[in-house]
Amino acid sequence: KKVVLAYSGGLDTSVILKWLEDTYGCEVVTFTADIGQGEELEPARAKAQAMGVQEIYIDDLREEFVRDFVFPMFRANTVYEGEYLLGTSIARPLIAKRLIEIANETGADAISHGATGKGNDQVRFELGAYALKPGVKVIAPWREWDLNSREKLLAYAEQHQIPVDMKRGKKSPYSMDANLLHISYEGNQLEDPWCEAEEDMWRWTVSPEAAPDAPEYLEIQFAGGDPVALNGESLSPATLLERLNQIGGRHGIGRLDLVENRYVGMKSRGCYETPGGTILLKAHRAIESLTLDREAAHLKDELMPRYASLIYNGYWWSPERQMLQALIDASQVHVNGLVRLKLYKGNVIVAGRQSQSDSLFDTHIATFEDDAGAYDQKDAEGFIKLNALRMRIAAQRGR
Ligand code: ARG
Ligand code: SIN
Repeated sequence: KKVVLAYSGGLDTSVILKWLEDTYGCEVVTFTADIGQGEELEPARAKAQAMGVQEIYIDDLREEFVRDFVFPMFRANTVYEGEYLLGTSIARPLIAKRLIEIANETGADAISHGATGKGNDQVRFELGAYALKPGVKVIAPWREWDLNSREKLLAYAEQHQIPVDMKRGKKSPYSMDANLLHISYEGNQLEDPWCEAEEDMWRWTVSPEAAPDAPEYLEIQFAGGDPVALNGESLSPATLLERLNQIGGRHGIGRLDLVENRYVGMKSRGCYETPGGTILLKAHRAIESLTLDREAAHLKDELMPRYASLIYNGYWWSPERQMLQALIDASQVHVNGLVRLKLYKGNVIVAGRQSQSDSLFDTHIATFEDDAGAYDQKDAEGFIKLNALRMRIAAQRGR
């Protein structure tokens, strides 16, 4: 009867809006979120109004996105398949949550989205939705209709008087997804994994070779594993990430070109720019290097790929992700201190780290100079001998 649609205001979701009304005879509630994609939201409202939508939700979710999704993920130093910082993946559970909240507020029994049947996003939206509202109905038009080309979509739009004023900003030939953490690019000539991305595809970063010849230093303060201040200035999560994006962008930091494994089974090629996230990952590892116990750090590193897959595959709202989060969060109480970084032509270089309250680094013990008895080198002899024992026994047996 009533469906909440994740609505961007673009051509695809506008066609979906009309198609839902026509195909299901249902009332459509639109939901448009600002998660830092850098687009005006008022055009989406105007367009929904023009299409006769009665209930229009427009939410600024930027702070919630960074505070409750991006930062918790960065506490784990999360990276998928060695490289991808999960910029799209981490935004989907928040959209799913808001879709369900709005369904509950408006008495809707269904949700709908514009993700295709080939991708990860459909899985993330829907796993999230089912976890939060088990009886919800999901309508995924891309899996149902036969409007499977640009032309058919445009023809449908014309036939139903859907305005195709897609002139907001430069029109891109790529399938893009942007938020405060990243922009992703897929499709077009990227579908050939051998074909290098053209320079003017990138929107947030300059190329490393075009970056300034002088390095820039930057200080990030961490509290409880989260960044809280930049160069001595306390900033809200979204503001801090936004600043890091600007600074990193002008130094050519955070570009990635990757062939990755989608959850649905296929390989896909994508390009990503994640300037702030790339800086943050380096900085967080640097402060952890000083403040985390070795085994705690190594355990986190072992669990991280699993945690990354859970987020990539859409299991943010699963019990196992929440269990891992509790473990990760517990490790972060001592992750406090300051990291100094040098940014230079695409590189993030750690220049220093310190923690007044929580450093486990002991100069007296580690020094190459006289340690005044802080560490007894004789202890190492037995330590090594016992660790070698099983190998000596095996060697004696000729193994
Ligand atoms: N491949 C990336 C991921 O699965 C990016 C997906 C981009 N989504 C999009 N609707 N363009 O997280
Ligand atoms: C889509 O297919 O809707 C975008 C790509 C993805 O979800 O992986």
